[in-house]
Amino acid sequence: MSERKTVLSGIKSTGRSHLGNYFGAMKQFLALQELGHELFVFVADYHSLTSARDANVLREETMAIAIDYLAIGLDPDKTHLFRQSDIPEIPELSWILACVCPKGFLDRAHAFKDAKAKGEDLNAGTYTYPILMAADILAYGSHLVPVGKDQAQHVEYAQDLQGKFNHEFGEEVLVRPEPMIQSETGLILGPDGEKMSKSRGNVIELFEPVKSFEKKLKRIKTDSKTVEEPKDPDTCPVMTLYKLFDPEGVPALEEKYRAGGMGYGVAKQALIDATRAELDPHRERRAELEADLGSVEAVLVKGAEAARERAGEILGRVRRACGLD
Ligand code: TYM
Repeated sequence: MSERKTVLSGIKSTGRSHLGNYFGAMKQFLALQELGHELFVFVADYHSLTSARDANVLREETMAIAIDYLAIGLDPDKTHLFRQSDIPEIPELSWILACVCPKGFLDRAHAFKDAKAKGEDLNAGTYTYPILMAADILAYGSHLVPVGKDQAQHVEYAQDLQGKFNHEFGEEVLVRPEPMIQSETGLILGPDGEKMSKSRGNVIELFEPVKSFEKKLKRIKTDSKTVEEPKDPDTCPVMTLYKLFDPEGVPALEEKYRAGGMGYGVAKQALIDATRAELDPHRERRAELEADLGSVEAVLVKGAEAARERAGEILGRVRRACGLD
């Protein structure tokens, strides 16, 4: 590794993690962990509160994301895993950043504009969401923020607020973060060809029970070509998902598409087999973790200690720079 970087990212705990989260973000965390970088990976439960209204559901979904992190192979001996709401430095930094954030910035935020256009109930949390996210990113001195494409603007906000804060209070205080977005997997589409997202209702959950997971794959809409007819792998949604799970098997399957004589059922079965090869070990691990929630909680407590230690150092610098010490 050329240089050890500080990496930070998180997933919101509204609903379960899905294939968009997995390929857009979670697999990047794993790759960065294996490269030996210092990772801070958290469950963004403060962010969930812009819409979550049931305490038990929020608790459960927060825990579920933590279990997912461990199940896919994030290793608490290498990566700090924690709950955002265990870090009181975050809302503190969020307020301080709010004081250098021009209101016009927030008016331009895509996520807020979308929520408004959809007629959603808007609260000040939805409006100031990008500031809280900038606080997450800047509180640990992160260099790299691995995310999907939809979060690009949020990382730009963190860069802008880092620049503004340092300009007003001292050039060396906050570290400039860079987004890390994969061109191949930065935008995962759902079976309907639209961006896979909880709000669109087109997600395939990463750890959905195997039966319904596979049912969703079998139900993917394809065109009405007969078995004998050659088919186009480039426009087939089954192939789009297959490519994610088994890139090496793609040329062989593409050939079968083009040759004709293969029905879509066979392609779907190939997709299901590829998902089993990748996900079955994660599913097994997840089942073990679910039966041992105490150990998951212990991981989160330990992760929060490390995260607070780092955030505390940075907040100390921030407070001194603004005269709040
Ligand atoms: P969230 O929970 O919506 O998504 C978590 C991660 O998954 C990525 N993602 C996708 N990537 C590719 N294709 C898709 N269809 C897809 N859907 C989601 C997201 O880009 C993200 O990387 N606000 C954030 C959580 C957050 C955060 C942070 C992230 C809070 N603070 C600080 C990074 C750094 C969110 O709601 O992500």
